[in-house]
Amino acid sequence: MTVDGPGALESPAEAAFAQEVASGEPILEVRDLIKHFPLTKGVLFKKQVGAVKAVDGVSFDLMQGETLGIVGESGCGKSTLAKVLMNLEPATGGSVKYKGEEISKLSGAGLKAVRRNIQMVFQDPYTSLNPRMTVGDIIGEPFEIHPEVAPKGDRRKAVQDLLDVVGLNPEYINRYPHQFSGGQRQRIGIARGLALKPEVIICDEPVSALDVSVQAQVINLLEQLQGEFNLSYMFIAHDLSIVRHISDRVGVMYLGRMVEIGSDLEIYEHATHPYTQALLSAVPVPDPAARESRDRIVLTGDVPSPANPPSGCRFRTRCWLAQERCATEVPLLAVPAWLSGLAAHESACHFAAERGETTPGEQSESG
Ligand SMILES: Nc1ncnc2c1ncn2[C@@H]1O[C@H](COP(=O)(O)OP(=O)(O)O)[C@@H](O)[C@H]1O
Ligand code: SF4
Ligand SMILES: [Mg+2]
Repeated sequence: MTVDGPGALESPAEAAFAQEVASGEPILEVRDLIKHFPLTKGVLFKKQVGAVKAVDGVSFDLMQGETLGIVGESGCGKSTLAKVLMNLEPATGGSVKYKGEEISKLSGAGLKAVRRNIQMVFQDPYTSLNPRMTVGDIIGEPFEIHPEVAPKGDRRKAVQDLLDVVGLNPEYINRYPHQFSGGQRQRIGIARGLALKPEVIICDEPVSALDVSVQAQVINLLEQLQGEFNLSYMFIAHDLSIVRHISDRVGVMYLGRMVEIGSDLEIYEHATHPYTQALLSAVPVPDPAARESRDRIVLTGDVPSPANPPSGCRFRTRCWLAQERCATEVPLLAVPAWLSGLAAHESACHFAAERGETTPGEQSESG
């Protein structure tokens, strides 16, 4: 795949591949995942007065070999979701299964084995690499915890091979992070993520801090590595055009919940959730004629606090379609029975419909 404009359609071969991937086995099964951060008051006697509901009942599958994009505005819980999946933060509730095994129930060797198989690439290549360590030590550090992957005598060679795989000169092994550009540092971060030969890599905004000219190179490298090592990716970003380029499926988050999920074609061309439609209407369009003919949906009102989300549908305070039912009944993420074709994918809206269409429910409530 090459980098093309945000509006470009995928080829029939790519669509067929996405279909094939999506019908495979799930490698991660996430159900009703919850992460609440307690809000406390008092200095000596801390009393819990509430909770930031950063992730509040998220369910999805990550299929073997696929790339699942996760989009949503800043603060909607994407990074928290990644950290809970990585076991960097304990979940408040819900279930995460890796190849059918519940991660939260594992300990000792079992947990260590799963940790090895799920790795993360972070957003900021400037702060995520220790400036006092050489590139060789940074990339080889995971071998200290998992010496079985590369015994001591083989490590230098293993690190040099990893540098080569991510397109860096293996002779740079003794250099320090400050001697590299942003794009090269992200390559170092990716090499480190690959060191333990994981099956899943969670990329949290991996190119957001990079120059636009470098972003495409890093994305192309991630795609090339996916094919080479049969990796499954969760690709988190707020930039919808980058997510479309790399993803087979896309999930949209709002205030700690998944509001819509489907193939990239279903989400980008047949979105049925008003929030997704608003996000898409704000994506820059390179073609001036197309730009003029498109109506932009301007969202009014601030994003509510995740410590005190609206009742019913969390999007209702900013939704132009909201009705009484939206305040009392939580819309579940499911395929709406009244939709067909590419519009028939999971959407958490009582009145899910493609832009410009109305739903039977909407007509009956307003009529
Ligand atoms: N350690 C923490 N303690 C308290 N609140 C947190 C913590 N980490 C994240 N949050 C809050 O959780 C919400 C989701 O944050 P985050 O997952 O970073 O969102 P995103 O990655 O989508 O920008 C935000 O309101 C954020 O302030
Ligand atoms: S459930 Fe109601 S408030 Fe929520 S997105 Fe749908 S129409 Fe809007
Ligand atoms: Mg984040």
